Amino acid sequence: MNFIHVQDVLQGNLVGQQTNLRGWVYRARGTKKMRFIILRDSTGIIQLTVVREEAPEAFAVAKKITIESAIEVTGIVRKDERSPGGHELQVQSLNIIHPAETFPITKDQSVSFLLNKRHLWLRSQKLSHVMKIRATLFRAFTDWFNNRGWIQVHGPMFTGSAVEGGATLFNLKYFDGQAYLTQSSQFYLETLIFSLEKVWTVAPSFRAEKSRTTRHLTEFWMLECEAAYMGLQELMRVEEELVSYCCEVIAKTHAKELEVFNIKADDLLKVQPPFKRISYTEAVEVLSKKGIEFEWGTDLGTEEERVLTQDEDLPIFVHSYPKEAKAFYHSPNPEDPKIVDCVDLLAPKGYGEIIGGGQRIHDLDILLDRIKAENLNPADYEWYVDLRRYGSVPHAGMGLGVERVIRWILELENIRDTIAYPRTINRTYP
Ligand code: 4AD
Ligand code: MG
Repeated sequence: MNFIHVQDVLQGNLVGQQTNLRGWVYRARGTKKMRFIILRDSTGIIQLTVVREEAPEAFAVAKKITIESAIEVTGIVRKDERSPGGHELQVQSLNIIHPAETFPITKDQSVSFLLNKRHLWLRSQKLSHVMKIRATLFRAFTDWFNNRGWIQVHGPMFTGSAVEGGATLFNLKYFDGQAYLTQSSQFYLETLIFSLEKVWTVAPSFRAEKSRTTRHLTEFWMLECEAAYMGLQELMRVEEELVSYCCEVIAKTHAKELEVFNIKADDLLKVQPPFKRISYTEAVEVLSKKGIEFEWGTDLGTEEERVLTQDEDLPIFVHSYPKEAKAFYHSPNPEDPKIVDCVDLLAPKGYGEIIGGGQRIHDLDILLDRIKAENLNPADYEWYVDLRRYGSVPHAGMGLGVERVIRWILELENIRDTIAYPRTINRTYP
């Protein structure tokens, strides 16, 4: 048998034709004479109408059908304004591939119940839309970098040292020794600019985040890039062009799915460069005007970022943070050594940080001083320091949190709904 997809039927040019569909039972109801089944496949949902008089055998099957059963069906496509998608299938024959047991997920179930049944809950329309939009985002990354001559590379996931500080490192037994799960591929990307100049990757990142928040996962995906001779200004242009391209591709590919999240594709198309640029010092002044007391010197937190961005429609850059607020590898500003040449991109409407990045220290002595000042073990960073001995060049790069970006674009309350299997402080099941 030749099967087509629901979307092919909803396109509208098959009216009157016999077609075969297969999928899962999304809903089922009916009377003694007629059954209505909503069939779901990867492309959408459609109503199947089974009339006892016309297809008695199919009707008998339909009467005992259960939610989430796998079925295949043959019928005639009809136009019907009342059906979802404006079309239905008048069923001639219906075959159950596998009759589902009573599906545990019904309306109004608790968040923790749904998370325990994540393997089944993923069949929901909303999560299916998220998965498709997520796939499009990964495609947009690939297209954007490929079209501009960047080379995709892959760093290791087992590592021997911290990139973003020891507090969030995941330790693991590695044969007779120990290793960590990577926090960021940045240092490995830095090694590759000396042969490839402009490199990027998208990879998992692991952080032992002990806090339970709506924007932290312990395992998330990070898009990172690094380029020789890139400075802070150029890095910001890369980030704003990349982010606006991603919004554009999602808007153009998923206008219908976006509606389910109350997002207007047109609003996403307005995410265009240039994004506003303010310094950390200016950000602290803005916060103080808004009544938030914040001491110059520490990193901006969730609350500060929320206040800074809640009235914005576009992402904003905050650059030039105090040295102490950022990781040791950031390049000190030549005119003001209290600050480093780094930049965070904050998503609007209160969502906050989606990208962190900046200029790296490329001078050997400055890097050694910073490692010492931060009380890090120089032996752990020997290979990283080595890069500053053989043709060292100025360079910069960034890391974008994939789930943070999806959360902002879809305006989701919690980051866990941006990924199929969210990993948090108390969840590794399923
Ligand atoms: O700001 P972060 O920690 O920067 C780095 O890791 C750099 N080494 C990246 C680089 O320059 N190559 O993390 C980068 C981004 C953040 O802006 C945020 O979007 C995301 O990763 N992120 C998280 N997303 C989800 N859950 C977490 N626990 C996250 N921690 C960081
Ligand atoms: Mg950061």
